[in-house]
Amino acid sequence: MIGYLNGQYLPQENIVISPEDRGFLFADGIYEVIRSYSGRLFRATAHLDRLSHGARALQFNHTDFSYLEAVCEKLIQDNQLTQGDAVIYLQATRGVAPRSHAFPPIETPLTVYATAKPFQPHRQESENGIRVILVPDQRWARCDIKTIGLLANTLAHQRARKSHATEGLFVRDGVVMEGTHSNVMAVFDGKVITPPRTNYILAGITREFVLSLCGELSIPFSETPLYESDILNADELMIVGTTVEVTPVVAINGENIGSGVPGPLIRKLQTAFQEKVC
Ligand code: PDD
Repeated sequence: MIGYLNGQYLPQENIVISPEDRGFLFADGIYEVIRSYSGRLFRATAHLDRLSHGARALQFNHTDFSYLEAVCEKLIQDNQLTQGDAVIYLQATRGVAPRSHAFPPIETPLTVYATAKPFQPHRQESENGIRVILVPDQRWARCDIKTIGLLANTLAHQRARKSHATEGLFVRDGVVMEGTHSNVMAVFDGKVITPPRTNYILAGITREFVLSLCGELSIPFSETPLYESDILNADELMIVGTTVEVTPVVAINGENIGSGVPGPLIRKLQTAFQEKVC
């Protein structure tokens, strides 16, 4: 496979990153995962805008990543990914500098890395739904930045896997925030409820897209907190995200949601989603 590093396209195995990269030393970086459907990038501009938001928040010396859209397109072409599904991974770090907590000189170039790979959609999970567990949210208070510092997410995800669940939903002070790599939406009395955009969740591109689908389908929705104490009473529950698209959740901590099978409103959103992306 061909990857991208700092302006160069190289065979993946020839891509070398310095051990003094601040991404390696401090997780001082941000990333994006972008889906491509039959060679068409899904919401690339929104992803690159979010990368810029992260770069501004971290005070990077370069915050305009619009040029990466062409990089993504080239990676799709050069890796023969114009048919079927693929994912692009993009990462930008503060660059290479001797380890010091202080930022390196302002002119230090960022490290910008990208790859494209075929992606196998999780059809069985979309069809049958998944089981999730609730996990304490032990992340920092800037979850709106898509930082590569994902240890709290990977630990929570691993805990879910160990309990034979597919995803963990973070709970902070009794409020359900989002998944370890997805946003969460519940249905109560025909209305879709999803946590509001704050510093405690990632402003998901899929979340925004699914809310726009709700608008188009005249499904009422509201961005309001989802309480741990209410969540088991939801009629339907789903996670949404670049890799999971719209995936029904049929059980939390071993307790069924609704009748324990994917509900009608989720099916409607899944159908609308597939019609739009394919
Ligand atoms: N994660 N919340 C978190 C914590 C995430 O990591 C993600 C995506 C989302 C969904 O955002 P979007 O719809 O923009 O993909 C929400 C990516 C896919 C990942 O880390 O692999």
